[in-house]
Amino acid sequence: MTQRPYIEYSNVEVAFNRLVSGLKGVNLRINRGEFVYVVGQTGSGKSTLLKLLSHQVVATGGAVTFDGQNLGALSIGDIPALRRRMGIVPQDFGLLPRKSAWENIAYAMRAIGKSRGEVRRSVGKILESVSIGHRADAFPEQLSGGEQQRLAIARALINSPELIVADEPTGNLDPETSIGVIQVLADLNQKGVTILVATHDAAIVSMFPARVVRLENGRIVEDSAPNA
Ligand SMILES: Nc1ncnc2c1ncn2[C@@H]1O[C@H](COP(=O)(O)OP(=O)(O)OP(=O)(O)O)[C@@H](O)[C@H]1O
Ligand SMILES: [Mg+2]
Repeated sequence: MTQRPYIEYSNVEVAFNRLVSGLKGVNLRINRGEFVYVVGQTGSGKSTLLKLLSHQVVATGGAVTFDGQNLGALSIGDIPALRRRMGIVPQDFGLLPRKSAWENIAYAMRAIGKSRGEVRRSVGKILESVSIGHRADAFPEQLSGGEQQRLAIARALINSPELIVADEPTGNLDPETSIGVIQVLADLNQKGVTILVATHDAAIVSMFPARVVRLENGRIVEDSAPNA
């Protein structure tokens, strides 16, 4: 019965330089197991908000805490352990173009120290879990946009993360494919995984209602519960 929030942003400022600000005075609490959309226009600060959690961006004011850890106080040596707890789906997918879908996952698993045996046993299952098992041998450029997106999500699942941070996971997908991608995230949420999704896609938000945090020019201007 802990009251400590899982994720907390307290008066967070991100100033990229003297002129460009990413976030201003952001206060936000997210509990374990929540599904939260982060919405807002291009440049409003969605990616910045998400990247603070994986320490790809560091607050220049205020504090971000994750499960009680002040992320601003972490040393470089602590960052890999932090990132291992979360599945990060970057806005640009970040797939390795010269490796097949299977190898993309295998490579990521080897990079976090999984044994060859474990890789051989798990990669197929992970691809299957996002319904691209049949595309294991395809290279990223041979995959459709939705399949690439699923591969990026699959790669984020290799640590069985407790938190998934997905930046525009339905980016340029058609509505039907987008629903499939969000369904994958919704299923994980059902299993208790906390999900943060940055999106432009109002249709998705209305189809899979959840908490919505809206940013405008780096500030939170709305934070509404699913049925508010
Ligand atoms: N590394 C950086 N250096 C300087 N400015 C940055 C950097 N990253 C982001 N910004 C600026 O911070 C603001 C917020 O950017 P951010 O990427 O968070 O927006 P976004 O809401 O994710 O936009 P989009 O919907 O286009 O992905 C923008 O003005 C952007 O130009
Ligand atoms: Mg962005």
